[in-house]
Amino acid sequence: MHKDIEEILLDRIEIEKIARDLAGKIRKKYEGQEVVFLGILKGCFVFLADLTRELSLMDLKIDFLLVSSYGNESKSSGEVKILWDTNIDLKNKNVIIVEDIVDTGYTLSKLVEILQKREPASLGICALLDKTKAREVEIKIDYVGREVPNKFIVGCGLDYAEKYRQLPYVGILKKEIYEK
Ligand code: IMP
Ligand code: MG
Repeated sequence: MHKDIEEILLDRIEIEKIARDLAGKIRKKYEGQEVVFLGILKGCFVFLADLTRELSLMDLKIDFLLVSSYGNESKSSGEVKILWDTNIDLKNKNVIIVEDIVDTGYTLSKLVEILQKREPASLGICALLDKTKAREVEIKIDYVGREVPNKFIVGCGLDYAEKYRQLPYVGILKKEIYEK
């Protein structure tokens, strides 16, 4: 285990199982239909790969969005902007947003607002992790992997200052790392 990690929450095997289970639900729901996966950069890259590997026979389009984070500003006033957009026309498409983790919920709720204007046939949300205790705005997550405690989580794509994304597991970062 990496020295900066306090505890492992999900190992590689568990992450793969989550991806397989969620992929199964998605496959069932959209049988015979085209689906557009929109991964939210950068944290989604590992989970999106795990998920889509399980969907090799689906009629799938995959693209990515980069959205601005609210940084240190007050979260309620923080505006979410798309910094890198998809050029797939989402009108009348089944769209699934793929996120690493849902925390306050602001990013996704604003993003849903923006993407709904493009008139998709459906707009779903799939997230590997859910910090339900940190939620500040209500948001419906259609496919969720695992609830995690309200602590700083890294690994499997999730970072702290761009580090730890490569860890093959999901773990809690030691407090002394982000408090120093
Ligand atoms: P929200 O708008 O507060 O839900 O923030 C969601 C985004 O914040 C996620 O997509 C992550 O990129 C980031 N984030 C929230 N919590 C964590 C965490 O514990 N570790 C790493 N990134 C996080
Ligand atoms: Mg993110």
